[in-house]
This record gives sequence, structure tokens and C-alpha cells, in this order.
Amino acid sequence: MLCLGIEGTAHTFGVGIVDSRGKVLANALKTYVPAKGGIHPREAAQFHAANARVVLDGALKAARVAIEDVDLLAFSAGPGLGPCLRTAATAARALASWLDVPIISVNHCIAHVEIGRLTERARDPVTLYVSGGNTQVIAFDAGRYRVFGETLDIPVGNCLDVFARGVGLPYPGGPTVERLAREGKRYIPLPYVVKGMDLSFSGLMTEAVRKHRAGADLHDLCFSLQETAFAALVEVTERAVAHTEKKEVMLTGGVAANQRLREMLKLMANEHKAKFFVPPREYCQDCGAMIAWTGILVYKHGLRQKLRETGVKQRWRTDQVDIPWRTG
Ligand code: ATP
Ligand code: FE2
Repeated sequence: MLCLGIEGTAHTFGVGIVDSRGKVLANALKTYVPAKGGIHPREAAQFHAANARVVLDGALKAARVAIEDVDLLAFSAGPGLGPCLRTAATAARALASWLDVPIISVNHCIAHVEIGRLTERARDPVTLYVSGGNTQVIAFDAGRYRVFGETLDIPVGNCLDVFARGVGLPYPGGPTVERLAREGKRYIPLPYVVKGMDLSFSGLMTEAVRKHRAGADLHDLCFSLQETAFAALVEVTERAVAHTEKKEVMLTGGVAANQRLREMLKLMANEHKAKFFVPPREYCQDCGAMIAWTGILVYKHGLRQKLRETGVKQRWRTDQVDIPWRTG
């Protein structure tokens, strides 16, 4: 059985083709980069519409299959930006009707966890999912993926991007901040905000930009921003690990590319005698393969949907989805 998965929650339009045993045959994508400033949802959606055909053709070519070989359609129904979600959903519904195959709506955050479990052969990890649009600590418990902690305001990737913009560095900010942070020598105190199990990064971002305007060294600031934000992420993840007593920790999302965050999280995992996983970059970022694989899991466990039940959900929470393919 072949599942074609369409991702389109934010910047990336992706098409993945995965078989029922979890072999990824194709994972094609194109990413919208705003000319300046942050993401403009309608422009991103237009980008997706304009590129859908090339990405789809690229995926079919890479997988060496014809569109008629596809048995199942899956798409990212949320959470994400309305116009982007609607574009991906329209493409998925049109294809599913034309091919006359079943269609499955997939939760984007859960797809990140499932593709990571697949590629890393992780069984039951506490997952830190960190990107430009999301920041969540996720672990499976009693039939669902529970959110053990999350950001109360901006996601950590967005904190790095907006800080970068505020100090005149290019988009995306994460990689540049990481590079400059390596030359940082002095820790500049910045707001560290953990509330219960939740996180906040907007005060940190604003204060870091303010300190730059007041003349603080940029290398020291990048270093301090990373240390502060990442320590908060590790603290909340650690508490989830201690509470659940799980023996695996996984890091995913665009910010997982950061070596310093990996190092800090790995140290914490070691202290709890937990294995540490980071999926390959291709599967940490948004992609069609993660949607296709999750579509397979949903379908194999007997869940079916009617076309009219495939509406998008901009605020679809990770913990609102039943996960019949896992036990415990
Ligand atoms: P999502 O829809 O999951 O929120 P996204 O649209 O933010 O995803 P991703 O590719 O998953 O896209 O993540 C991009 C984010 O990752 C940006 O905020 C970027 O700054 C950040 N990032 C990329 N590389 C690094 C790095 N080396 N260090 C820190 N952050 C990074
Ligand atoms: Fe994502």
C-alpha cells in the first residue's frame, strides 16, 4: 500500500510517498521564503498553490511510481496558518476524489513525533518539538500524545528569528545566532521564564534586542540568548522525563539543527539513563513523508473519514487526537 502525504501548514509545501512498512520512497518539498519580514499567510498559500504540481511531480518521479499507484491520501489538517492549510487540503481532496482513494487528515505535531519514531526506531520517547511555529514537550500517555509543556507566547524558533531581524541578521535567525554564539565569551543575564511546565520567550526576545541597542556585544548576546532559551527547554523536558520515567528523549523540529541544544539535551538524557535521538534533518523539518507515514498508521488502525469530515483545524491540539496505534 502506498500513501501520498501532503504537508502545507506554514512555509513548506511537501509531498511524501511512503509504503505500509514505513519505507520512504519520496520526500519532495519547496519552502516559501518571505522577501522581507515574517511569513505572510496568504503569500505562503499562493506559493504552495503555484508549486504544488512541481513538488507532486518531483515526488512521483523520485518514487518511480505513477499517480494511479497511490492507494491512500493524507494531508496536514492543522495546526497551522488558515490559507496554507486550505490550499494543502484542497489539493489533497481533489487528488483523493480524482483517484477515488480514501483520505486521512493528519495532525502536524503528531506527524513530527511519528516520523521520528520511525526513522530512529524510538519506541516511546519524550519529544521536544521546537520550530518556528511550535514549541511543545510531548509524550504518550493513556491513548493520546499529551502536551507536558509548551510555550505560552512565541515559539523558540520564532524568538531566534525575530531577535535576528531586530539586530539586523538575515532570516532564518537560528543558524546565524548559533554561529555567532560560538564566539560569545560572557553570559549577559536575560529573562528566564518557566511557569509551571510552560515556557515564555517573548520577554527574552525583547530584552535581548534591547540589550543590543544599548551596546551589548552581539556574540555575547547570541550566546546568552541560546543558553537562556535552551536551559528553559531542557528544564521542562527533564521534568517530563522524571515524571513519566520514560527511557527515551527525542529532539525534532527546525531548531533541532542546533548543536548546542542537542548537547544540552543529550547531557540531560544521559543523567536519566535515557537514550537520545535526533532524526536526520530531512525528517526534523516539515515534510510530506511525516504526513504520509502518519496517514498509514491511522488507516491501518481502521480509522476512515468522509470527504466532508476533512475540514482544516487551525488550532488542532496534539492532545485532541486519539492514537489507537499505540498501547499503554
Ligand atoms: P513548523 O511548521 O513545524 O512550526 P517551521 O515553518 O518553523 O515549522 P522548520 O523548518 O521546522 O519550519 O523550522 C524553522 C526554524 O528553525 C526557524 O525558526 C529557524 O530559525 C530554526 N533553525 C534552523 N536552524 C537552526 C539552528 N541551527 N539553530 C537554531 N534554530 C534553527
Ligand atoms: Fe513542523
